[in-house]
Amino acid sequence: MNILGIETSCDETGVALYSTETGLVAHALHSQVDLHAVYGGVVPEIASRDHIRMLLPLIQQVMDAAGIDKPDAIAYTAGPGLVGALMVGGGMANGLGLAWDCPVIPVHHMEGHLVAPMLEDDPPAFPFLALLVSGGHSMLIAVRELGDYRLLGTTLDDAVGEAFDKTAKLLGLGYPGGPALAALAEEGDEQAFDFPRPMINKPNFDFSFSGLKTSVANHVNTHQQKGDQLNTEDICASFQEAIADVLVEKTLAAARTCSVSQIVLAGGVAANQRLRDLMSSRGRKENFSVFLPPIEYCTDNAAMIAVAGYHLFKNRKQLTSTIDMDVYSRSRMI
Ligand code: KG4
Ligand code: ZN
Repeated sequence: MNILGIETSCDETGVALYSTETGLVAHALHSQVDLHAVYGGVVPEIASRDHIRMLLPLIQQVMDAAGIDKPDAIAYTAGPGLVGALMVGGGMANGLGLAWDCPVIPVHHMEGHLVAPMLEDDPPAFPFLALLVSGGHSMLIAVRELGDYRLLGTTLDDAVGEAFDKTAKLLGLGYPGGPALAALAEEGDEQAFDFPRPMINKPNFDFSFSGLKTSVANHVNTHQQKGDQLNTEDICASFQEAIADVLVEKTLAAARTCSVSQIVLAGGVAANQRLRDLMSSRGRKENFSVFLPPIEYCTDNAAMIAVAGYHLFKNRKQLTSTIDMDVYSRSRMI
C-alpha cells in the first residue's frame, strides 16, 4: 500500500510517499524560512500563499520519483497549526482524493511527530515513553499503542521550542531561533552560568520554562546596564544545558515510574544535538533503549504524516469521506 503524506501546518511544505512494503519511497520539503525571516517570525498569510505555490509541484515531484500514477490513500495534517496553511493541504488532499477515488486520512500533527521513529529500520515497539517537544507542545506520554496515550506531564507555561525561540529573540538571534541558539551553544561553555533548572526536583512530570527565560533576560539586562560585554555563546550553551538537564531528568523519572524499557524523543526540539546526546548517554546508563528519529524527521515533514496516516488507516480510527474536510488551529492529542 502507498500513502501520500501532505504537511502544511506552518512554514514548511512537505510531501512524502510511504510504502508499507518498502518504507519511505520519496519525500520533498520546501522551507519558507527565507520568506518569514525578514519579519522575525511566521506571517500566516505568506505561509498559506507559499503552500499554494509549492504544494502541487512537490506532489508531482514525489509521484515522479516514486514512479506511480496514484497512491492508495492520502494523509494530511488537519491540525493543530495555522488554519489558512492547513486548509491548503486539506483542500489539496481532499481534491486529489476525489480525483483519484482513494481514502483521505486527517492526521493530528503531534501524532505525526510521535511516529517519526517508526521511519527507522529498527523502530521502537509499543509500549514506550515519549518525550514530545516542539514549538507549541512539551509532553511526556506513556504510549501503550498508537491512539492509546496517557499524558504524564506537560508544560505549565512556555513549550520547550517556544523557550528556545523567545530566548533566541532576546539575544538578537532572529528567526528561526532554536537552531540558531543551538548552533551558538556549540561554541560556548555550558558550565559558564548556573541557570535554574525549573521543577527538576518536583515529584511530578510537569515542566515550566518561563522562569528560565526570565533568568536569562535578567542576566542580559544586568550585564548591559554595567556595560559589560556579553558572552552570547556561553549564555546559549548554559541555557541549552539547563533545558536538556530538566528534560532528561524528568523523562528518566517518568520512565522509571511507568516501568517501560524504551524512550522515544520526538518533535522539532528533538533535533537538538545536546538533548539527543544527554538523553542517549544518561538513558543507556540506566539500561533504557533510547530512540532518536533522524534529525530531518524531527522537525516538520510529511514522511511522519504518511506513516501516522497508514497506522490510523490500518486501525480504521480516522477516515473521512472525500468531501468532509476538517482543519483545526488547536486541538489536544490526548
Ligand atoms: O516540530 P517543529 O518543527 O514545529 C512545531 O510543530 O512546532 O518544532 C519547531 C520548534 C521550534 O521552536 C524550533 O526553534 C525548535 O523546534 N527547534 C530546535 C532545534 N531545531 C528546531 N530547538 C533547539 N535546538 C534545535 N536544534
Ligand atoms: Zn511540528
